[in-house]
Order: sequence, then structure tokens, then C-alpha cells
Amino acid sequence: MKKSATNWRVKRPPARVPAHWQAELQAVLITEAQIKRRVRELTAQIQRDFAGRDLVVISLLTGTVMFLADLIRHLSLPLRLDFIGVSSYRDSTEARELIFTKELRLDVHGRDVLLVDDILDTGKTLKQVLAKLRALKPRRIKICVLLEKKARREEKVRADYVGFQIPDLFVVGYGLDFAERYRNLPFVGVLRAEIYQSRAVGQLRNAD
Ligand code: IMP
Ligand code: MG
Repeated sequence: MKKSATNWRVKRPPARVPAHWQAELQAVLITEAQIKRRVRELTAQIQRDFAGRDLVVISLLTGTVMFLADLIRHLSLPLRLDFIGVSSYRDSTEARELIFTKELRLDVHGRDVLLVDDILDTGKTLKQVLAKLRALKPRRIKICVLLEKKARREEKVRADYVGFQIPDLFVVGYGLDFAERYRNLPFVGVLRAEIYQSRAVGQLRNAD
């Protein structure tokens, strides 16, 4: 049976947390091998959908860094690449106010846009980014996210390509951070509650 873009769930028992990370992480949610396999599936789908189009990939800084690199290296389509910088003021793991730290440089008028983000959580980030992009009159915008937490959605935003549906857990790794750390983990892991709770007091400025 063919898997649709949005019903891929993590089914297998989590892999062991590497010894070096055991003090900070409670589990590996998605392994490197699972990510690799799923990214290949997504690229195959994207490749079919954008064949023959004038594609501009727009990635949101900074959490997409690993996902984007893996995604585009498997796309054998002519494409342009640009970034939009977004940053949110946060209390612990809760996003507050969104600010733009880098504007788009490329012209997207009349072009096909693939907007890439790390995780679709409440949907507030993508809602604001979409409003900005639509004003530039691209031909169409498709959204690709590595992760989606459906349970937390507040805004009506739908992703066209979703790597993994995940439960309502705060995750780090493969580009995703907590207080700018853990982006370098090659897998997606679940942070121990005591790590993010200990930082709950005081505001953190967190680049997405
Ligand atoms: P949204 O605006 O609530 O959809 O949040 C999107 C942004 O919040 C993402 O681009 C992430 O940077 C961040 N975020 C949401 N959930 C997590 C998480 O579990 N771990 C790390 N960052 C997260
Ligand atoms: Mg972030």
C-alpha cells in the first residue's frame, strides 16, 4: 500500500540513547536510518510534483539546516535556494512573538515555491511566513516539514509533505534546538523534562 505524505508515524520502539547524551535526552524518537529513508521518499514525491517547473526552495532558518541539506541533495531538479530568518522570543519551550531576521532575496513572482520548515507545531510561524510570501505572488506554494505535532495546531495551516507525525513532546536534534543547543544530533530525540524545566524562568531568544 502506498503511504501518503501525512500518515507516516513512528511505530518502532525507540532506539537507545547514545551514552554521551543520556543525561540530557530521555529517548531517541526517530533514528538516523528512519530519517534517511523518509527523506528519500519525500524527495521522490517532490521531484514528481515539481518536474518541469521553475522551483524556488525557501527554507526557514535555522532548524531546517540538516533536513534541507539532505532533501535538496537528492532532488535532481533545477532549483534556486533562499532563506527566510525567523526568530521567536520564548519562555522555555513556548513560542511568543515572531520577528524576521532575514528577508527573502530571490524573486518568486510567478514561480513555484517549496517552503521548508523543521516542525509544524501551533502553525503560527508558517501562517505569518505564508502571508508574506503570498504577497509576492508566486505561482504556487507547497509546504514541506520534517515533523508535525497535530495535537498542538492553533492556526489553519496544512503541510503538503510531512516527514513524521509526532506526539506532543519537545524534541531536539537533526537541526532542532532547545535554547540553541542540540541541533547537531544526527537523530531526533526527546529532551528530559528537567532540562527544559530548569530553563523555564527567564526569557530565551531562540532562532527557529
Ligand atoms: P509554530 O509556530 O508553533 O508552528 O512553531 C514552529 C517553530 O517552533 C519551529 O520552527 C521550531 O523552531 C519551534 N518548535 C516547535 N516545537 C518544537 C520542538 O519540539 N522542538 C524544537 N523546536 C520546536
Ligand atoms: Mg527553534
